[in-house]
Parts: sequence; C-alpha cells; structure tokens
Amino acid sequence: MPCEPTHAFLTVRSITTILDYMVQNSTKELDGLRAVVTGGTKGIGAAIVRRLVEQGATVLTSARNPVDDLPEGVRFVRGDLSTAQGASALAEQALDQLGGVDVLVNNAGGAQLFPGGPLTLSEKDWLEALQTNYLSAVRLDNALVPQMVERGSGVVVHISSIVAREPQTTIPHYSAAKAALSSYSKALSKAVAGNNVRVNRVSPGMIETPAVQVLLSEMAQARGLDIEGARAALLAEVGGIPLGRPGRPEEIADLVAYLASDRARWITGSEFVIDGGSISNV
Ligand SMILES: NC(=O)c1ccc[n+]([C@@H]2O[C@H](COP(=O)([O-])OP(=O)(O)OC[C@H]3O[C@@H](n4cnc5c(N)ncnc54)[C@H](OP(=O)(O)O)[C@@H]3O)[C@@H](O)[C@H]2O)c1
Repeated sequence: MPCEPTHAFLTVRSITTILDYMVQNSTKELDGLRAVVTGGTKGIGAAIVRRLVEQGATVLTSARNPVDDLPEGVRFVRGDLSTAQGASALAEQALDQLGGVDVLVNNAGGAQLFPGGPLTLSEKDWLEALQTNYLSAVRLDNALVPQMVERGSGVVVHISSIVAREPQTTIPHYSAAKAALSSYSKALSKAVAGNNVRVNRVSPGMIETPAVQVLLSEMAQARGLDIEGARAALLAEVGGIPLGRPGRPEEIADLVAYLASDRARWITGSEFVIDGGSISNV
C-alpha cells in the first residue's frame, strides 16, 4: 500500500531530527582537551585556533596585540613572548584559566628580512630572533610540560620552518633559530616520551599569511620590484613549489589538529614538512 503523504513527511522530519541530534551530540575529536596556541590572532595560529575549537577543544591564545574576531569562547592573554616575563605570565594565566593544559602549540614567531645577508645583522637582531622563535617555546614548555609529565598525557607541537633545513641568506637569524627549535624539540620528545607526552614539529614552506605579505612588501621595496615580482623571487629562493602555489593556513591547522588527536598516539619526535614539495632533499 502506498504511503500517505503526511506519513512520508513525518518520516523525513523524524530522520532530520535524528540527524540533527546526532550532529549536536557527536563526539568531536578534541572534546574535553584544553589547548594553548601562541600567536593565534593572525595567519597560521588563527587557523589552528579555529580548527581546534571546531574539534571541541577549549582554547586559550596569546599575542602582543588583541583582536576582536577570535572565535566564540576563545580566551586571550596579551603579552610579548620574546621575554621571559611574557612566557611565564602566559603559562600562569593558562593554568589558572584552564586548570591545566593538554595541548600546547608553540606557533608565535617571525622575522625581519635582511637583504644584505648574514654579515649585516647586529647582535640585537640575532638575540631577538632567538628570543622570539626559539627561547619563547623553551620557556613555555618549561612552564607547561611538567604538569603533562605529572598527569601522564600531553601533546606539544612546535611550528618550525623548512628554512631550518634550507637556510636563507636574507633571514639567517630566523633560519638558525628555527634549526635550534627543531633540535631542541627532538631532545624534549625523547625526555618526556616515557610519560606519554608527545612532542612533534611542523615545518611549513611558504604560507600566504600577514607575515608573508609584510615580507613581500619589504622584498619589493628592497629590490625595486612589484609584489608579483617579489613573490616570484621568494618562490625562487625557496626552490619553487612543485604543487604550484603557496600553502594556506588551514592546511597547517589540519595537520596540527591531527597531531593533537589520539589518532597520532604513536607519533613523537617527528618532523612534518608541509611545503607543497619545496624541499628538494630526502
Ligand atoms: N607564513 C609562512 O610562510 C611560514 C613558513 C614557515 C614557518 N612559519 C612559522 O609559522 C608561525 C606563524 O607564522 P605566520 O606566518 O602565521 O605569522 P603572522 O601572520 O605574523 O602571525 C604571527 C602571530 O604570532 C604573534 N606574535 C608574533 N611575535 C610575537 C611575540 N613576540 N609575542 C607574542 N606573540 C607574537 C602575532 O601577534 P602580534 O604581532 O600581535 O604579537 C600573530 O598572532 C611562525 O612561527 C612562523 O615562523 C610561517
């Protein structure tokens, strides 16, 4: 016997209601996890914050300047991570506000371009690069990893760079600082693996973020190029991108969310290069 139209409508509506219920109550991969993402107001960090929130994590982020477009519920701590005080204040606030930290993403970083090469940097330039791209992470780990060790669980992700492996003459301080970060990350991973704390590093190639846009303007000005010319020059410096385009912040965020999840439970001490194929060695 054919179905009554009302009957069919009710059936479709019930299915829709059941699906809505399932979506609202489905377990998300990072449900219940408390995450700190440094530099989460722009570029890669902002994409990581969005992704972790989508996956159910409670997220606290930090930067020197506040913004008004953080996803709902994300907490913000203002501070300069290139100083020891900035790192300890962030760690204190994170423990206070979240009650503990399960996932720590050390993302804040960046560098000024020196077109004249390594011999044109001052002592201050070198120290600033090390403070911002390396010691900031060491200090934050020192403050937050012990509670992971004590709990017997935790995840740390260090955002390094492909320039740690292929140093660039115009950013030698940044390349060296990221190489130090990568080496340190491996050492830390070995020290805490026995306590079920996983430490990995993600090394992006060229990602179009506000930092890269600033870099392109600086390059254009220094070399008398337009922005397209500067982009082509930068691409040539990183050895080209076989996949044909710079990366997107969301593509890094997907990888970080995976590393933070239990699906990556047997991965530690590893480097994940995500660069559209730029790195030429094996
Ligand atoms: N974009 C790329 O092509 C690329 C490639 C390889 C690796 N990376 C790495 O990926 C990370 C993110 O880069 P991005 O391109 O997304 O940079 P971005 O767009 O400039 O964003 C950097 C974030 O870090 C914060 N930050 C910078 N210095 C800080 C400091 N001293 N204290 C506290 N917060 C600070 C910034 O906020 P405030 O300025 O308000 O402090 C911002 O939220 C960096 O570690 C970078 O080295 C980027």
